[in-house]
Amino acid sequence: MDLTILLGLTITFIVILITKKFQLFIISKTCSKKQLPFPPGKKGWPLIGETPSFVSSPKKFILDRMKTYNRNAFQTSIAGETVAILCGPAANKFIFSNENKLLKFWLPYSVSKALAQQNANPNSNSYKMADEIAHKFLKLDNIQKFVGTMDSMAQQHLDTFWVPSLQVKVHPLIKEFTFELSYRVFVEYFNPNLKSLKELRDPFFEFIEGILSTPLYVPGMPYYKALKASKIVQEKIFEMVEKRKNKMGNDDHDHDQIDGDLLGRFLMVRDEDGSCVSKEDIARVIVGFIFASFYTTTTTIAFTIAYLSKHPHVYDKVLQEQMNIKRSKGEGEQLNWIDVQKMKYSWNVICETMRLKPPSPGGFKEAITDFNFAGFHIPKGWKIHWSAYSTNMNPKYFENPEKFYPSRFEGSGPAPYTFVPFGGGPRMCIGKEYAKIETLVFLHNLVTKFKLKMVNPNEKIFYNPDPIPVDGLKVHLQLHS
Ligand code: HEM
Repeated sequence: MDLTILLGLTITFIVILITKKFQLFIISKTCSKKQLPFPPGKKGWPLIGETPSFVSSPKKFILDRMKTYNRNAFQTSIAGETVAILCGPAANKFIFSNENKLLKFWLPYSVSKALAQQNANPNSNSYKMADEIAHKFLKLDNIQKFVGTMDSMAQQHLDTFWVPSLQVKVHPLIKEFTFELSYRVFVEYFNPNLKSLKELRDPFFEFIEGILSTPLYVPGMPYYKALKASKIVQEKIFEMVEKRKNKMGNDDHDHDQIDGDLLGRFLMVRDEDGSCVSKEDIARVIVGFIFASFYTTTTTIAFTIAYLSKHPHVYDKVLQEQMNIKRSKGEGEQLNWIDVQKMKYSWNVICETMRLKPPSPGGFKEAITDFNFAGFHIPKGWKIHWSAYSTNMNPKYFENPEKFYPSRFEGSGPAPYTFVPFGGGPRMCIGKEYAKIETLVFLHNLVTKFKLKMVNPNEKIFYNPDPIPVDGLKVHLQLHS
């Protein structure tokens, strides 16, 4: 064969090979079925992925990547998983309306293990009963009964820990308050035993410290300590279940207990076969509730106080609203649900705080089937994240987004799906009424007692991924004359 022909054939063969290989490469980078690309992005370091940047500066993480890769979706790697972060109101609507169709609720294994969720059986009768009772317990018609208790607990907390001081560290004090309140509402409403409260508080605080840390099960590491502490918390709740059962004796019709805490409610309810919720499911729900309410409400109350201390004109408007309510009450009369409904401006202040400092930065889901979103393909098994920052900090939906401006919530408020602090769809937060009442009632008691001034208005905040003030958020207090 002529050498030129041979050379020509070889080159053609090589070109065909390269083209084929390139096609294969392109296809493997996209989806074989739909031909849409995966969202752009990078995975970061082996194993840890981009977890440290996501946890330590969630706002910057989201906003930077929306700018660099795509405003609607990008990919990353968090907690050892490939995660598609879907951004904007369309993403929120898509995620909330496709729960259990295209995606389902997901928690990193390390977190669900520490929350004692791993051995639970969602198909068991006990699990279903526990969830039904717990959902009913948090509904507004039940939870509004606790307004008076929350009011007197807030008063007592402020009189004991705030009034004697001229200056307090707000964040650690609010942690004590939110924990004690959840203990009363979920575990021991009648004649609370302070010793039992402390026995649960100490391991719970240790557990909460390490649950979101790097999941290294090595003695001395925070995650190791968190798992140990989670076991102790569970054992304590088992003991409390036994104690309460003995106290209740055989009287199944003790209505005081039914109208009291969640633990009492669990022990009273039986299904048609006479079986009741297992102690494991009781502990699972109670630990989950204390956990879900602890940081979220602590962050909300603490940062509302920070913003009020820095914005005296907003504080004055809140004070005026709360004084009107206080003046309408008799001496020593507790707040009730009707009073809480009148706290409209105060609620706008809390919403603006949650917009700027989201107590829950978003939610995680898992794709249960392949799907497309905004021109990208998301394969089954990928994890999905919706992020509060993707809408809360967008000037298109919130003019001058860095500015603290509660009046933006007046009138019809933000556009749909742009402000979703409690999520949406079937897995929307079931504690939102509890959170609303708790934060408003605390605020009422605080502003009607003190004028506030931040010691250091530029106090630094670190993220974990919840915002935590480095110095505990120090505030000067001045009692109203
Ligand atoms: C300011 C306070 C709170 C905020 C901002 C908040 C936020 C959220 C968000 C965003 C979700 C949905 C996450 C997702 O899409 O996957 C959620 C779910 C949940 N929250 Fe809250 N939460 C708050 C307070 C509470 C409280 C006080 C409780 C309990 C007493 C609670 C219990 C729950 C539970 C059990 C779920 C899961 C619901 C389900 O999966 O069906 N939360 N929360």
